[in-house]
Amino acid sequence: MSWTSDPILVVDGLVKRFGGNVAVNQATLEVGRGTIVGLIGINGAGKSTLMNCIAGMYRADEGRVEFDGQNLIGLTPHEIAAAGIGRTFQVPRTFERLTLIDNLMIPMLNRPESEDELIALAEAGLAEVNLHDLKMNNGEELSGGQQKLLELARVMMLEPKLILLDEPFAGVNPTLCTLITDKILQMKEAGISFLLVSHDLTSIYRLSDHIYVLNQGEVICEGGVDDIRDDPKVVEAYLGG
Ligand SMILES: Nc1ncnc2c1ncn2[C@@H]1O[C@H](COP(=O)(O)OP(=O)(O)O)[C@@H](O)[C@H]1O
Ligand SMILES: [Mg+2]
Repeated sequence: MSWTSDPILVVDGLVKRFGGNVAVNQATLEVGRGTIVGLIGINGAGKSTLMNCIAGMYRADEGRVEFDGQNLIGLTPHEIAAAGIGRTFQVPRTFERLTLIDNLMIPMLNRPESEDELIALAEAGLAEVNLHDLKMNNGEELSGGQQKLLELARVMMLEPKLILLDEPFAGVNPTLCTLITDKILQMKEAGISFLLVSHDLTSIYRLSDHIYVLNQGEVICEGGVDDIRDDPKVVEAYLGG
């Protein structure tokens, strides 16, 4: 039985191999509409690979991915983004030599609005993540945490229904972590769904409605925060090595 009666994303039996290495092994999970789902696991567990399969950067070897009833297997990353899935990267993809305004305008280049309208949208996006004062600065001047915020703003520009966040707190100072956490919760309030990948259990426990634990590519358990926190399999996966 599934934990959610209204899944916006269904991943079923997903397998991704790199040569003989099975990075994702029969992974099955669901994201409920309007919820935050945490995906945890130690380094190398397969979290980013699973995310890359959902986003179309990698082609899954087996399995099914459905978003809002639509099959995503075989679609390009661009088509998947257009369908309503936004994503951030573990290592932020900042355009270092472009201003923050231009960084946000890149994903909107095909839109019908005038340039002035797009600039206004980009400025509003920067204000949302407290980066408006730096709008004419170049991407290379941002700290790691500020780059994570910029990615979040950039993803929001496309008005996604589901956002895949890969390690949004990694290398981010506590103040910016709080800002990112608040932003995620605000977006959830607005109806956006999240798949949140992190090895940082504190943030995951704070934010998640439901959690899946990945170990060597397999989902070894799932449940609410209280279930996962006390599950011996999770403790073993994290500490037992
Ligand atoms: N592009 C790739 N080519 C070959 N192996 C990869 C590639 N990406 C990931 N892997 C392997 O897949 C496994 C899972 O990696 P990854 O998904 O990055 O884990 P996580 O994000 O949980 O730290 C690891 O063994 C890793 O070495
Ligand atoms: Mg990763």
